[in-house]
Amino acid sequence: MCGISGVVSFHPIDDRLYEGVHHLEYRGYDSCGVAFLENRHIEIRKDIGTVDEVDTKRNLRHLAAHVGIAHTRWATHGKVTRENAHPHTSCGCEFAVVHNGIIANYKELREELKKKGHKFGSETDTEIIAHLIEEHFVRCGDVERAWVGALRQLQGSFALAMISPHEPEHIFCARHESPLIIGVGAESNYVGSDFNAFIDYTKNTVILDDGEYGVVSKDSYSVKSLRSGDVIDKAVTVIPWDSELSRKGGYPHYMLKEIHEQPQAVRTALNIASDDIATVADMVMAAKRTYLLGVGTTYYVALYGQYILATLADLDVSSVSSDEFRYIDKTDASSLVLAVSQSGETYDTVMSLRHAKERGAKTAAVVNVVGSSIARMVDHVILQGSGPEVCVVSTKAALVQMLLLTRLALEIGVRRKVIKPAKHREYEAALTALPGEIETLLNEQSGIIRAAAYRHAHIQNWLFLGRGIYYPIALEAALKMKEVTYIHAEGMPGGFLKHGTLSLVDDKLYTLVMAPPPSCGELHAMTMSSVEEVKARGGFVFGFSYDEKDDIFSERVALAPTHELISPFLPLVGAQLLAYFTATALKRNVDKPRSLAKSVTVA
Ligand code: AGP
Ligand code: GLU
Repeated sequence: MCGISGVVSFHPIDDRLYEGVHHLEYRGYDSCGVAFLENRHIEIRKDIGTVDEVDTKRNLRHLAAHVGIAHTRWATHGKVTRENAHPHTSCGCEFAVVHNGIIANYKELREELKKKGHKFGSETDTEIIAHLIEEHFVRCGDVERAWVGALRQLQGSFALAMISPHEPEHIFCARHESPLIIGVGAESNYVGSDFNAFIDYTKNTVILDDGEYGVVSKDSYSVKSLRSGDVIDKAVTVIPWDSELSRKGGYPHYMLKEIHEQPQAVRTALNIASDDIATVADMVMAAKRTYLLGVGTTYYVALYGQYILATLADLDVSSVSSDEFRYIDKTDASSLVLAVSQSGETYDTVMSLRHAKERGAKTAAVVNVVGSSIARMVDHVILQGSGPEVCVVSTKAALVQMLLLTRLALEIGVRRKVIKPAKHREYEAALTALPGEIETLLNEQSGIIRAAAYRHAHIQNWLFLGRGIYYPIALEAALKMKEVTYIHAEGMPGGFLKHGTLSLVDDKLYTLVMAPPPSCGELHAMTMSSVEEVKARGGFVFGFSYDEKDDIFSERVALAPTHELISPFLPLVGAQLLAYFTATALKRNVDKPRSLAKSVTVA
């Protein structure tokens, strides 16, 4: 996964390529580079490091050229070196290519090209594409035909942009299983992995579908089928977000900004039309079997969905991690696959949906990014409308997804007559109160949680425990801690502890427990017994708890009393803050943790 940006314009590019990849850095950031046309030759500037580091070394700004492409890389094939950074060029430097994805048959193609005399300067799968275009061009003398000929030989996934001095007024782009869009501007057109590449300049985009390529010039563009060459009439989509929304807005990090955007994001999600939820409820009711899919955080959201559907709707669904789905997929025309994805581009989830569709299953999804692959491939999508989530670590998107699955469970619970009208009204009122309660927590507890985070930042190992619906919350909270602090945090059900992990408990291992309100009865009592188990072995237990009588914690963050239905959301927000402040105490790269990327578009 990586970010692609391209500009073709009546005016000099100036900083637009730099800004494009800068705004895409959350997709990958181990190296970056630009290629542009100057006096009918290709100039490449690239190096390892972040966009700003590479700009300092190589100067990616103030470009006088009118056509250029840029890339910020997250390596899949070949180490993080200057040579492996994109763009990559052909032997004669007549074609420069940037790529997102993996070329599955690159080894065979590379061997064939080597036999024909091509010399390679990198270890990447990408470089073969530039040589392949050159090979075709030598034979046909036409850039577009060479482009199509080369692309038809590729297996795997790709989003591509290419420039050549033989077509100095054009950017060629293409998409197959990795996202790519065209930005339609005034006196300039753009290409990008997503709209962050050009949202400062235009909100009008043309979204390429798999198997399509685009030829983009400063005042026009055309989209064609890679297979047939036929021109495809594409609609222009207007992106409803503006660039200001994507920026930090005074917060030191996007993660903190996005944590604080949760009340608003929840309000927006509560306003999503009931019809939208009802359509997915119809699909769940009609299906013999429903699978809830996600990966990483969204798998934990799916697991939350499994618990909430069982609790509120008395319905049995299976949550599966998308990367494992193919091994157990037994879907058929009577099944529904309901996927959850912030980006809508996650490879494992896209592939699982594709597989299920091939088997005839119905599909639906909860997605944040408008126009993303998943949003467009499913039979019905609920667009969560949470606004751009820039921090690699998901916070507001995940919380809103849980909320939407709660709304779905309520809808199905009413239809299945598990929830009586009076109870339904009570639940609705609880959901309406959630944004205000998150606001109160952020206002009143941030300081306390920050102090705790700084006090305990030296702890190297944490156990995060929760029972029942607090179990997926504990898993998600532990993932937040791992991702952003690089500290080991393991989530598990409270009841699981005595079946092995208890042997780890000593004074160096800290435990975090998410306690439900006392109104949860047995669930509350059982959770507190897990606290006792750890304390009895001399362990330190940090608790998020609603009841002041929960006084056995070594340290307790007091949550204001709330309704059971929304009670799991508040310790989740607390745990997001704990992870965030621990990361700042440890001076971590909060918005771009090492080795991670926002949108995992590779297997
Ligand atoms: C979340 O904090 C992670 N960065 C990661 O687990 C993420 O949730 C996962 O890759 C799924 O992404 P998606 O929601 O965009 O599909
Ligand atoms: N496979 C290419 C590489 O390793 C592109 C990776 C990406 O999508 O970021 O350079």
